[in-house]
Amino acid sequence: MSYPYQIQSYEQYRSVYAESIHHPEAFWAGVAGHFSWHKKWEQVLEWDFKTAHIAWFKGAQLNVAENCLDRHLAAKGDQPALIWEPNDPEDASRTLTYTELHHKVMQFAHVLKNNGVSKGDRVCIYMGMIPELVIAMLACARIGAVHSVIFGGFSAQSIADRIQDAEANTVITCDGAYRGNKVIPLKSTIDDALPFCPSVKKVIVCTHTRTPVSMLKGRDIWWEDEVALVAEQGNPYIAPESMDAEDTLFILYTSGSTGKPKGVVHTTAGYLVWANYTFVNVFQYRQGDVHFCTADIGWITGHTSVVYGPLSAGATTLMYEGIPTWPDAGRLWEIVEKHKATTLFTAPTAIRSLMGFNTEFLKDKDLSSLKTLGTAGEPINSEAWHWFHKNAGKSSIPLVDTWWQTETGGPMIGSLSGVTPTKVSCATLPMPGIQPVLVDEQGHILEGNDVSGNLCIKFPWPGMLRTTYGDHERFRQTYFSTYENMYFTGDGCMRDEEGFYKITGRVDDVLNVSGHRLGTAEVENAINMHLGVVESAIVGYPHDVKGEGIYAYIVYKGHEDEDNLTRQDIALTVSRIIGPIAKPDKIQFVRDLPKTRSGKIMRRILRKIAEGELNQLGDTSTLLDPTVVEEIKSGRL
Ligand code: WT7
Repeated sequence: MSYPYQIQSYEQYRSVYAESIHHPEAFWAGVAGHFSWHKKWEQVLEWDFKTAHIAWFKGAQLNVAENCLDRHLAAKGDQPALIWEPNDPEDASRTLTYTELHHKVMQFAHVLKNNGVSKGDRVCIYMGMIPELVIAMLACARIGAVHSVIFGGFSAQSIADRIQDAEANTVITCDGAYRGNKVIPLKSTIDDALPFCPSVKKVIVCTHTRTPVSMLKGRDIWWEDEVALVAEQGNPYIAPESMDAEDTLFILYTSGSTGKPKGVVHTTAGYLVWANYTFVNVFQYRQGDVHFCTADIGWITGHTSVVYGPLSAGATTLMYEGIPTWPDAGRLWEIVEKHKATTLFTAPTAIRSLMGFNTEFLKDKDLSSLKTLGTAGEPINSEAWHWFHKNAGKSSIPLVDTWWQTETGGPMIGSLSGVTPTKVSCATLPMPGIQPVLVDEQGHILEGNDVSGNLCIKFPWPGMLRTTYGDHERFRQTYFSTYENMYFTGDGCMRDEEGFYKITGRVDDVLNVSGHRLGTAEVENAINMHLGVVESAIVGYPHDVKGEGIYAYIVYKGHEDEDNLTRQDIALTVSRIIGPIAKPDKIQFVRDLPKTRSGKIMRRILRKIAEGELNQLGDTSTLLDPTVVEEIKSGRL
């Protein structure tokens, strides 16, 4: 059967979906025909969830940077590939055409090679949201180096953990980054991490904020100087490296149930196909569109929806350095108007933070270029959904809610803009190729509509992670051992009476704070590092803006001081160990934690107390010391 690459109607969605499920290999072979390959595949799919083995397009060779740049040059060389909007509206924006971006990526690919980076090497990128970040990623992809982008809000300790795990030999950073009225001293944070990272031989520093930095002879070099050297040599062409379909494209660290972040591995062919197919279909990309995704490139949404999705499609991607509320809450609307964005893709947290301001900020803005609104990253409450739809979309354009994960590479469940139905606070229907199933605690598959359970996916898709870096057994255990023969997402989900999927939130020990994913164990470990903390337990609680806030219960036997100062000391400790994103919102000091006789902390009770459901604590009779619960209840913040 033949079907269009871009789905045009709801009816067509149904037939394409059916085809993708009944003949997945033929379906994905058809999709893959839209890319440039150096060598075609021998087999479309090889998989076994028992051993956690997944391979797509085996035997094929290709290059992702070539697919994002070179193949568009003939038709779109002069079209903007990337528009960059600076943090400060007074500063000039920058536009790079496909030809210019291609040129800069080749230059920087030479810089990497000149500094000893080879195919397969891991390169850590810790930069702000500037075009050079995209250039660095694509230059890595061009020479076959594996990038590991680390979000600028992570601390030196977190960076060191990630660099060590990946054994990166090179770091690319900036002097600093702007975020609202703050300057984030990126190079200085890298300097604090590097004494613990013997694998790192070179640090390439791009100037942006002119923040003073230390530069060590033999290790640290300036981006601009290195590029100038390549220019002096006449900017020679550099061929895109032929990569095997299953060679690693990038590693992206994310939090899980244990304390140690895991390196999610995405590979070359499958990720490219998935990023492109979902971008073209969810946003219904048309020639001339300007795609504005506000996500930071430090997260998967940024990788896929700022960089690889739009660029692989030959679209114009609009990248913004700053935050939605600075200098005022009109900033996003101003950017949409200025660059005539056709898509605005953002996080529920950003919408909720803007809802706190007067809609005056929207009044005089011309948002008529917008064709699609999108959200991702957390459940979107109906109030935020309606506010966004009404104020940004004038109640007349589709608002698509897309559910995905670092692990899934791209959207898995979500509406196709203007093509399939949307529903308030609901991700709706699976992408072609995605087979969601809901299971109960025992792993029984729940059939029919109007059911809730744990969300699993029972068949591989091209964009899924292939392993966790350096620890394949952890990969198998985390995703394939809870339920037999299925990928377990960690999310709870409801299939409503119409058969639409609505994600209800994590069912494991993972929190989603302002769209940032944090493991409870990870945060507790950080809190426990503070001198004087004996023990701690954190839980999530509903937070008006952040979606979920962090409530920490802490047994403290340290230096006696004013409680608020101790709280700040603990927050600072967490900030140093993980980053400011993991600071607890509330800290309650307690005599003891509610534990069973076998010493297990009863998180369920702590969660209920944090949520304020004091009368629904359930059975507390199995506790070692039930009086602890009464004390915690009365001391609730
Ligand atoms: C977790 C993954 C969009 C990818 C960026 C986040 C939650 C994601 C939605 C949504 C409800 C959502 C899930 C998921 N999540 N999108 N549309 N509705 N929840 O990637 O950091 O790996 O987090 O974000 O709980 O498991 P991530």
